[in-house]
Parts: sequence; C-alpha cells; structure tokens
Amino acid sequence: MNYNQCWLNYNPVNNYEDKELLTQVTVLEDKEKSCGIIVQNAVKELTNAVKGMLSIDLKVSSTKEQLDKADCGVVLSLSSNLSVNNIVSLHNLSDEGYILKQAEKRIYIIGKTEKGILYGVFDLIRRVAAGKSIKNLDVLENPKNPLRMLNHWDNMDGSIERGYSGNSFFFKNEEVIVDDRTLDYARIIASIGINGVVINNVNVRKEASELITDKYLDKLVKMAKIYAGYGIKLFVSANFAAPIEIGGLTSADPLDEGVINYWKECVKHVYEAIPDFGGFLIKADSEGRPGPFTYQRTHADGANVLARALKPFGGILVWRCFVYNCQQDWRDYKIDRARAAYDNFIGLDGTFEDNVILQIKNGPMDFQVREPVSPLFGGLKKTNQMLEVQIAQEYTGQQKHVCYLIPMWKEILKFNSYAKPEGAKVVDIVSGKEYGQINCGMAAVTNTGNDYNWTGHDLSAANLYGFGRLSWNTDLTSEEIAKEWIMQTFPYNEKVVKTVFDMLMGSWLTYEKYTSPLGIGWMVNPNNHYGPNVDGYEYDKWGTYHRADRNGMGVDRTKNGTGYASQYNEPNASMYENRETCPEELLLFFHYIRYDYKLKSGKTLIQHIYDTHFEGVEDVEKMVYNWKCLEGLIPEDIYQRVSERLQIQLESSKEWRDRINTYFYRKSGVEDDKNRKIYY
Ligand code: GCU
Repeated sequence: MNYNQCWLNYNPVNNYEDKELLTQVTVLEDKEKSCGIIVQNAVKELTNAVKGMLSIDLKVSSTKEQLDKADCGVVLSLSSNLSVNNIVSLHNLSDEGYILKQAEKRIYIIGKTEKGILYGVFDLIRRVAAGKSIKNLDVLENPKNPLRMLNHWDNMDGSIERGYSGNSFFFKNEEVIVDDRTLDYARIIASIGINGVVINNVNVRKEASELITDKYLDKLVKMAKIYAGYGIKLFVSANFAAPIEIGGLTSADPLDEGVINYWKECVKHVYEAIPDFGGFLIKADSEGRPGPFTYQRTHADGANVLARALKPFGGILVWRCFVYNCQQDWRDYKIDRARAAYDNFIGLDGTFEDNVILQIKNGPMDFQVREPVSPLFGGLKKTNQMLEVQIAQEYTGQQKHVCYLIPMWKEILKFNSYAKPEGAKVVDIVSGKEYGQINCGMAAVTNTGNDYNWTGHDLSAANLYGFGRLSWNTDLTSEEIAKEWIMQTFPYNEKVVKTVFDMLMGSWLTYEKYTSPLGIGWMVNPNNHYGPNVDGYEYDKWGTYHRADRNGMGVDRTKNGTGYASQYNEPNASMYENRETCPEELLLFFHYIRYDYKLKSGKTLIQHIYDTHFEGVEDVEKMVYNWKCLEGLIPEDIYQRVSERLQIQLESSKEWRDRINTYFYRKSGVEDDKNRKIYY
C-alpha cells in the first residue's frame, strides 16, 4: 500500500489491562431486521484494531445462542433489539448516537441505527488506543451537529485547488477513481464522525458539471456504495449554469420553466442511480462563478429551484454565502468586502426552502489567521445555517507550517452572536439547537490528497481529525482532541505526547505572531497565498487592503468608515465600534490605528509588530529544537518528514519577520526600541 492509515494505524498498546473484555465480538441479530453492511464494516474495523493494538484474534459470532455461551466480549446491537432493553436506557438516543455499556463481562455497543453502532465501535477503539480502561463504561453519545461534512476542492484533472498534499484521490485525467483508497478514506473519516462528503471543487468547470450525468454516474454509484457502508453520503458541487453548459438550454434563469424542468429531470436521474445521494453544494455569483444575479434573481430564487428538485428525494441543497465582487475598487474607503455576505443574504432570511442550508465561512473575509466571526451568525434567524471552516491551510502555512486550528474553531463556536438578548452562541445556531433546525451543522474545506500520509505535513492530520471530532462533539476541548490524536497516531511515549502536544497547542498563535498583526490579514503572495507580500494579494491591486500609511494602519470599519461593525447585534456592534472595547487581537480589522498608539501591554503598535515578529521566529526555533529531541522515539519516516517541514517553516518565518518589519519600518520611520536589525 502506498499510503498510511492516519490515526487508524493501530499501533501496539502494551500492557493493556482490559484485554479479557476483547476476546470476541457478537452481533446480536434482531428477528425482524438483520444487520447490514455498516455493522459488518464495524466488525471488520474492530477485528483489525484489536489485532493491531493487542495482538488478539477476535472471534466473531452472530447469533443469540452463541452470545449466551460466551461469557465475555463485545456485543453489537440495534436498540430495536428487545433483548438489550433491560441493560440500558434508550431514551435520549438519537439516530446516529450510541451507547457503550459494560455489564458483567460484556461491552454492549448499541445504536438506534447501524451508523450508531459504527460510531460506538470507533469510540471503543479510541479508548483502547489511548490506553484507557474500558471497564465500567456507561456512555451515551449523540452527535451535536446533524451534518458533519467535508468539502473537497478536487478538480477532475487530478489537481486540487488549495491542495497541499499531492493530487486528488477522487479524480485523474477527467476520470473518477474508485480503488482501495476510496475505502480507506471512508474508514478514516467515518472514524471521526463525518457523514457527508462533497467530492469536487466548488469552482465547477465543464467536466465536473457532467459528474451527475451518465458519463460518470456508474463510477459515482460505486463510490457512493462504499461510502454508504460507512454512513457517509455523497454530495457533488454543481454548476449553476449547468442547464446551459450541459443541458443545451439558452438560460439558467431559476424562474424559467425549462430550467426548473432541467433540474427536476437531472436530480431524478441521479436518485435513480444513487437513492441515498446527499445533494448539491453551490458557489454562485462569486469569483467568476455563474449565479442568479445574471437574471436579476435573488440567491433564494437560485437555491430554491435546486432545493425543490431535491426535496422529493430527501436531498439537501447547500448554498454558499461566500458571495462578493472580487473586482471592487478597494481604494474607495466605503467599499468593504467584509460586508458582502451579510449584505447579500440578510434580506433573504426566511425565504429559503427548508432543505436549503446556507454555508457561511467562519469570518467575513476568507480563512485568514484571525478574523471576527461572520455577522450572518446571529443575523439570520429563520434560515438553516452551516459553519464553513478551512482545514486546508491556505492562509495558515499550507501544510508546510504547523498550525493546529482547533483552538481557532473553538473560539468561533463559542462566540456569542446575541441573536437573542439572553445570548445565542454560534455552536448552538449551527447545531440547530437555537432555532430547532435539523438541516444544519459544520463543513470544512479539507486538506487531504494522495500523499503517503494523506495530509502533506504529518501534524496537519490533527486538523482533519480535530474537525471531525469537534463537529461530532463541540464540547471537546482543543487539548482533549490533540491528546486523542497523538495517542492514536504515535506509538505511546510520554515525551512524544508532551512534546507534540505543546507544539500543536502553541502553533496557531506562533503562526499569527510572525505573519499577521492584530487581525489585519492578507499580506500574502498573489494567487498562491503562501509567504509574505504586504501589498501582494491579487484582489488588492492597489496595495491598500491594510490601509497602511506613514502614520498608522488598519481598516476603519466603524460608522465613520465602512460601517461593517454595525452588522453585528448589540452589544457586539458597540464593542467592535469602540477602539477601547474592541478585542485587541482584532484591533486592526476594525480600526485605523496610529503606530504610536499604546496597546494594553503598554507597547506602541509599531513596537508590538516588531516584537511579535521576532517572538514568532523564536517560537519556531523552539519547535525545531523540541522536535529534534524526539529522534528515535517516533517512526523514522514521520520524524524525517516533519523535520524537513520544520526547516521550511523556520526559513519562512524569518522571511515573514524581515519583510513585515522592513515594510512597517519604512512606512513609519520608527526605530525598534530594542535596537535589533529590523530592515533589509
Ligand atoms: C478563496 C480561495 C479560492 C476559493 C474560494 C472559495 O478565495 O482562494 O481558491 O475558490 O476561496 O471559497 O470559493
């Protein structure tokens, strides 16, 4: 095999004490309903895991009689199976939830559906991998989010937009790939609770528009079947202009009869082939993509035509709010890209079909290292919403730098939008709890490719792992997730756990220090978005995104400026509006600040910029040193791969430091108060 299994490598767990509970597995068959492929896959996974971790050949049986004979082992059962009702209490168990219960010498894994059983099995495996006891287990877990999705930006030629881990394992030379990797990918992402996958880029070009036609459907059927065996639904990014591009029509106007029928027929055809198809993801009217604006229609008109076609089949239409005009003339101080999503969508609240989900990027811009939370969360009250984050490290080091993103996502989730005076956190809005919705959840632009380790940087796998775990259980802390991932990825060693844990936990702030001060963002090379270039970003051809001049920098988004801060509910609007109450890490996002302005630390803004850029590099130097101390303690190939990337990160962090400091020294003319060399 030319790839590893990420956190499913099943390294040996030495001296595990509860081995006797893991000698056999029994599938308790229900008289009316026998267990299908998902449970069979769960059994396979458990068997492999126990073999790898404990060198035990698990005996597998599937009748009640055998269970009676066996006095110990794991029992998998649907909750509808009456014989388990006296063992556990089943109310509160949701469709995808599970129960883990130890009774006598047995461990029961019970789900209302087979998916629940599968998730329960992966939970048990996680515990063993972490060396945790499985005695006295009494757990009921339901997923917090109904939808837990990955978005792949894979193109049919095999390239990946913003891909940093090799090529696509879905497509090559305009063909769909279904092979061993399809299966292993399903296992890997099911193990963290993912239940939906969009396989192709949101920027849908000609070939990809045809994915849902007979040209490719056979292959998709095979792929969807493999995913279904792991409880994952297949979604496809569709092209809003498909009625023209592949349907032969002259218009894609969502109110046109011909277009309405086109979508109905197209969707019907897909569902005939794939009855449990998930639905579509659409990017419209943004960065060159077609959309309803061409026909003077709203985004609700656009989304609803597709949603209505999908509804009879239980399909979902995910519509992105990343809608903005990238050609705006940014020199006009009232123009603000950050306003766009809210301005485009807030007036449409309540006008979408109930199988439409608006997918909203975490911030108003574009996955910068630090942004405020999108004001659409808390603005929209009658529309299904899904949070979109980016696991792929487009602006956070492109999987060459270590940047553990879970702490960022935790902050977003706990943000209080004040949609209600008593409070309404993002976590509760996207889970559906706040407004009683069922079509909602979390989605992420993912970071995988056909590299040996799937994610380029070995430590970037922690972000993929973490997204899945967090979208399943938003209560998990960044620390818990990091530890879980480390314990399953590396053969156990205390020093390894501690070192990798510290590296991950500090990495986001470190990256922020040597790149972008106080929420300003963007100072990247055009198009590839890697490395420093203060005036470089491609949609900012005037070099003014940061508004830096000789006196100060930052974007005035108050009422005197673009007015963006007013898109938030109170008290957030006033908090951001006011320089003194604006959280300092976002100061330059909301305010133009003079270089001599004193921050809470007592430092001037310019000194803060100089200092953090030096500190960032020092942090990376420490990481490099600490990693070196792990030589011989972790598998050699991982050690080498990470070492190489850390060197790249170190060099890049120095370049960031020197370029940023030089730029702002030249602009401001202010010397460093520590007399370091700050310009080149
Ligand atoms: C960013 C990214 C693009 C991507 C877009 C999106 O602008 O650079 O590559 O297509 O986001 O989210 O659609």
